[in-house]
Amino acid sequence: MANKGDGGEKATLHVRGESHDLNVLKASIGPDVIDIQNLYRRTGLFTFDPGYTSTASCESQITFIDGEKGVLLYRGYPIDQLAEYGDYLETCYLLLYGDLPNQEQRRKFDADITYHTMVHEQMRAFFQGFRRDAHPMAIMVAVVGALSAFYHDSTDINDPHQREVATRRMIAKVPTLAAMAFKYSLGQPFVYPRNDLDYASNFLHMCFSVPSEDYHVNPVLARAMDRIFILHADHEQNASTSTVRLAGSSNANPFACIAAGIASLWGPAHGGANEAALNMLEEIGTPERIPEFIARAKDRSDPFRLMGFGHRVYKNYDPRARIMQRTAKEVLAEVGDPNDPLLEVARQLEEVALNDEYFIERKLYPNIDFYSGITLRALGFPTSMFTVLFALARTVGWIAHWREMISDPSNRIGRPRQLYTGPVMRDYVPMSQRGAGLGDQVHDTDRNPES
Ligand code: ACO
Repeated sequence: MANKGDGGEKATLHVRGESHDLNVLKASIGPDVIDIQNLYRRTGLFTFDPGYTSTASCESQITFIDGEKGVLLYRGYPIDQLAEYGDYLETCYLLLYGDLPNQEQRRKFDADITYHTMVHEQMRAFFQGFRRDAHPMAIMVAVVGALSAFYHDSTDINDPHQREVATRRMIAKVPTLAAMAFKYSLGQPFVYPRNDLDYASNFLHMCFSVPSEDYHVNPVLARAMDRIFILHADHEQNASTSTVRLAGSSNANPFACIAAGIASLWGPAHGGANEAALNMLEEIGTPERIPEFIARAKDRSDPFRLMGFGHRVYKNYDPRARIMQRTAKEVLAEVGDPNDPLLEVARQLEEVALNDEYFIERKLYPNIDFYSGITLRALGFPTSMFTVLFALARTVGWIAHWREMISDPSNRIGRPRQLYTGPVMRDYVPMSQRGAGLGDQVHDTDRNPES
């Protein structure tokens, strides 16, 4: 890639009586990095960094975050400008190709995405295999991975044309699959996409219209949905994106890689936090109970954490949280209760936490998930769909990173090392010499299909 400059600066490591000069690679903005690629060969040592808090796993030109200042840039453009003036498909183009599209590029890109919105008809049957109460994220992991079984002609990662087709297919079809997962959970018929609608409006149409009635997409809600997609479109090397890169580093097909990203996003410490944040606000219920929950969040012996607060990278206000807060107000003014008690609980909880020594000291601020749950609920989505919407929006970010990785000539299979602290080599012990413990009883759920 173009920008990685060796500015001549060196870091010197003294270890076991020897000195090793290591190159310092220059970033265009943000921290430079010490190049340790040859460290093991030169010293016989690995580095230790669980959770990758100090490790750059790759070089990237897509998204930049300054967590201390609360800045988020997609290809150099601030997130608030994109959310204010741009739209999601334009943002997709920007993330994928590096620049905002001109009119002709935009027209063609929109047409290509629109052309791919339907999914293979046989996928309907695939959905029928799930229990009606299946979590829609469980369905998404499966059906997005299953796209590789339906679209064989775009799984060859070495063919740039196939990579392009797979890219457009996923951006176009994931909303259709997400809406189908929603409809399935409701027991309503699947709604086919409408290619005359914009991306967000079409998604709302597939989620909320029924064949027996007319449905008109509310433009305020469509704009809010679109903005929510922009805010979630990428966030550099987070857990799910790193998962996609790691899965893709073995040359797995793109649909399987994105399914891996969805699985990672599902966790409550990552994409599942918006669901958890709304549940928490509902549990708090009234402003009077806020002190009780603040005390619990501060109590080290209580596993409770303030959901929607804190971030691995942001040690300042998450810039997306501000836009989300504004969007929440707009949506509630349009369809909900502008005086929604949960919005008031959220507002007061934020105020209390931001003035509390515990949160100030640890630089814990609201993240995007703090207000997104309230907004999504007002849009008409149940909590089980929240992470699905996140996955839908993030699909473009995952694909942009996957494409960047595949086209980087220095790409190698991802293979972290470890600090091994287990037993040293020992001889096999025959069963007759191992004592008579009964072992743990494991309940066999297969015998009872409903358990
Ligand atoms: N509530 C209370 N205390 C917290 C919180 C919180 N939400 N988050 C962090 N802390 C405390 C920790 O207990 C720790 O305290 P200590 O130093 O006394 O031990 C300190 O702040 C640092 O926390 P870490 O866990 O080391 O921070 P880390 O960067 O590993 O975790 C994370 C970040 C997972 C997001 C964490 O802040 C958290 O669990 N937040 C709630 C879940 C959430 O909102 N996740 C959404 C993230 S955004 C996204 O994925 C889109």
